[in-house]
Amino acid sequence: MEKIIRKAVFPVAGLGTRFLPATKANPKEMLTVVDKPLIQYAAEEAVNAGIEELIFVTSSSKRAIEDHFDKNYELESELEKKGKTELLKIVQEVVPANVTCVYVRQPEALGLGHAVLCAKPVVGDEPFAVILADDLINCGSDCAGKSVLAQMISVYNNNHASILGVEEVPPQETDKYGIVDPGETDGRVSRINNIVEKPLPEVARSNLAVVGRYILTPAIFKHLEQIPRGAGGEIQLTDAIEKLLCDEQVLAYRFQGKRYDCGSKLGYLQATVEYALEHPELRDDFLAYLVSEFGERAREHLRATGD
Ligand code: UTP
Repeated sequence: MEKIIRKAVFPVAGLGTRFLPATKANPKEMLTVVDKPLIQYAAEEAVNAGIEELIFVTSSSKRAIEDHFDKNYELESELEKKGKTELLKIVQEVVPANVTCVYVRQPEALGLGHAVLCAKPVVGDEPFAVILADDLINCGSDCAGKSVLAQMISVYNNNHASILGVEEVPPQETDKYGIVDPGETDGRVSRINNIVEKPLPEVARSNLAVVGRYILTPAIFKHLEQIPRGAGGEIQLTDAIEKLLCDEQVLAYRFQGKRYDCGSKLGYLQATVEYALEHPELRDDFLAYLVSEFGERAREHLRATGD
């Protein structure tokens, strides 16, 4: 029988240097977009896609993530005493009762590939998802709310191969991403001929970039164990996927949804504004504020730049 995707790995042990000093003592994945930390958006995406086990690859400075998904007796009993049932429900439902959280440590930030390898003893011999919480993907309007991971699990169920979430990036930015060379294509799904980590624009085979969603077969672990350190002295997941391509088919999936790179300050600010404008409690007041405070400034800017 074909295996289903039950486990998701959340590598959260990176240093988050692009967001210093905010990330000196606080994990990047605990940065809040409106009223939820990034890691909770990622966990909800996984749970809504049917994942039963959330595996967090953490480090010593990321304890706040464990606390966030743990029970907080003191807070709950205070909220209960004060009759704040709505808030109590929000706090209690951070992780549904049927979902298990497991934490493994990555002792040193040796790269995304190394972080995924740290999850091997918990993942075992089954296909699994990887979600990078700093790539926040909003699937609200243009795909009937079906999250990227749910979309990718449907593709997996039809193909039983590793799947990489990809999107087109500006051609001059290929050197920031793993870039795939797509082969035979059917709708949103392409076979991958090759994958290269951060190629310069002049040598990149496409502008299809891998972003923070993967479904991987357990064969990836063998390659993660064998590959040498790559770009930046890190064990690169891209390098292991390149090796996996020699053994089995790997597919690229052009997901539906809008991605925000919340590991960068600009992407994080864009996500904050756009999620606030969708938030039922905030959207009207926030929009009124933006128009009154910034409407004229934006028009002046457009006039000055001739856009
Ligand atoms: P990034 O490339 O964004 O690195 O990692 P980073 O260290 O988090 O951030 P910057 O670039 O220094 O600002 C992508 C994902 O992989 C995880 C990160 O936590 C992030 O979710 N990661 C990265 C690890 O878990 N371990 C690592 O050694 C590296």
